[in-house]
Amino acid sequence: MYHIDIMTLFPDSVEAVLGDSIIGRARERGIINFRAWQPRDYTTNKQKQTDDYPYGGGRGCVMYAQPLADCRRAICEAAGRELHTIYLSPAGRTFTQQDAKRLAREHDRIILVCGHYEGVDERFIEAYVDEEISIGDFVLTGGELPALAVADAVFRLVPGVLPDEECVTDESHWDGALEYPQYTRPEIWEGRAVPEILLSGHHANIKKWRRKMSLLRTRDRRPDMFEKLTLDGEDIKLLEK
Ligand SMILES: C[S@@+](CC[C@H](N)C(=O)[O-])C[C@H]1O[C@@H](n2cnc3c(N)ncnc32)[C@H](O)[C@@H]1O
Repeated sequence: MYHIDIMTLFPDSVEAVLGDSIIGRARERGIINFRAWQPRDYTTNKQKQTDDYPYGGGRGCVMYAQPLADCRRAICEAAGRELHTIYLSPAGRTFTQQDAKRLAREHDRIILVCGHYEGVDERFIEAYVDEEISIGDFVLTGGELPALAVADAVFRLVPGVLPDEECVTDESHWDGALEYPQYTRPEIWEGRAVPEILLSGHHANIKKWRRKMSLLRTRDRRPDMFEKLTLDGEDIKLLEK
């Protein structure tokens, strides 16, 4: 069972997003689990305040280290061991499918820490955070959406969460390329027809067409990814056609 603990000032957001659909059903089947933890429950001040003004001046507030550290300690105690801890931060390394694979492979339980306001006291990060992850070069108001994105990307790689292995390996980013275009019924919609090859029933040709579309898309949309692909003779022929 893969377990993710999410430390957040907004615990309802976790259940609302992960509690439904594929991930929610995988939890019901006992393949994965997740739990939201409220750092406010670990404050030591009367007002249950979780943040304060930044030393050195400037706008906004910074989350205290102490409630975060005590909340994390409670999670590790519940787990009976130290857990790999990730702080979601726009200043972190950008998350990729390779990170999702690594987290799914190397751990069976992780903690995701959501910041808010101006972020969290750096001393908490220095003391307890193993890695800082960003979900892209933009800034959100809180770490909840990034944490849910990371949790979803990791959970769907856990064996048994998706119906079969191809659901995972056939997707964009798995092998460094983007996925081919997909179609469903009807065959003609608003005057647009499904590519004929997909209706042919010729599996080998469909496979070639999909590979070609995947390579062309990657070349056009993500030249940075295309450059890193290792193309074989068959791929080069497909691209030349
Ligand atoms: C407004 S942001 C803080 C930004 C921080 N002062 C900075 O400039 O790097 C508040 C919180 O949202 C989360 N966050 C915002 N953008 C993010 C991103 N791109 N990736 C991961 N987390 C993000 C982090 O948890 C962060 O502590």
